[in-house]
Amino acid sequence: MTAPFVTRVSRADAAAVGDAARCLKAGGLVAFPTETVYGLGADATDGRAIARLYEAKGRPAFNPLIAHVADLAAARALARFEAEAEKLAEAFWPGPLTLVLPKTAGCPVAELATAGLDSIAVRVPHHPVAQKILAAFGRPIVAPSANRSGHVSPTTAAHVLADLRGRVDLIVDGGATPVGVESTIIACLGEPMLLRPGGVPRQDIERVLGRPLAEPPAGIAATDGTPLAPGMLASHYAPRTPLRLDAEHVGAGEALLAFGPTPTDGSENAARVLNLSQRGDLIEAAANLFSHLRALDAAGANTIAVMRIPPDGLGEAINDRLARAAAR
Ligand code: TXA
Ligand code: MG
Repeated sequence: MTAPFVTRVSRADAAAVGDAARCLKAGGLVAFPTETVYGLGADATDGRAIARLYEAKGRPAFNPLIAHVADLAAARALARFEAEAEKLAEAFWPGPLTLVLPKTAGCPVAELATAGLDSIAVRVPHHPVAQKILAAFGRPIVAPSANRSGHVSPTTAAHVLADLRGRVDLIVDGGATPVGVESTIIACLGEPMLLRPGGVPRQDIERVLGRPLAEPPAGIAATDGTPLAPGMLASHYAPRTPLRLDAEHVGAGEALLAFGPTPTDGSENAARVLNLSQRGDLIEAAANLFSHLRALDAAGANTIAVMRIPPDGLGEAINDRLARAAAR
């Protein structure tokens, strides 16, 4: 297959930021780093650019996008904040939290980006490159993770290039993303509800709210067939190699995704071993998760055995992504 156009990759300096803003204004697609993962940005107000974005990702068109803005003031133009949403925004923005809120009447974000819903997902990222691009562009940017639909999220510019070369205009390379898992998504459309565990641990959010988060209804697909957060569908983050979770030993021909200092039984048989965090640190593990999954997926193993990851803090998001990667 021939690539339809050339994808430029630029180091994240002032020139690249200006370039990114111009490209977005012209309806282009720009991948850039956020603190969670790389996003694939398009002008949130430009339906044609968003259509190109869905096409580039190969994403089902019903899957709504997150609108990224520079600050809370800009977010208010898109979404209505009740008291609890306000509290969360004040506590965690800028940062790895996405809020799903009622859309404002004059919300300028294209219908295609919100998939016709009357709610909108909004996030203020704190990564300096994302912040600079948002400031230079001056409008909301929709940005799903910059991977082909169904692949794991990219945490480096090289991952983005591997998935989207020839399908996007520009990749701004700002190094590896520090958090490594996507933002936590909380719907504030009534009781605050955890739609996707992510970069802000549940416990931190519950501490600010002073109460537990509501759980999404079982089988999150709403009656009209529109999933509440389609990214929650099982088997969204799939490497090609099957995963075996909570592995206590490694079989011949398996690759091992390890965690912590204690070696697993049979790890000397492993086709390849990568440790999410030798010292058992869940923050470091989250940052390494997607790049280690990609590397082990390329190791030619018959299975990726994954050691048990404790469920606390960022462990909830890590286990969520691993369960999805294992579902097929
Ligand atoms: O960390 C992140 O959130 C990254 C970076 C680039 O910001 N973005 C990201 O976007 O993960 P994406 O498109 O891969 O995941 C966004 C999730 C999807 O599962 C989508 O269904 C959900 O947000 N979503 C968006 N709008 C929604 C809405 N109005 N109601 C419910 N879920 C929504
Ligand atoms: Mg994604």
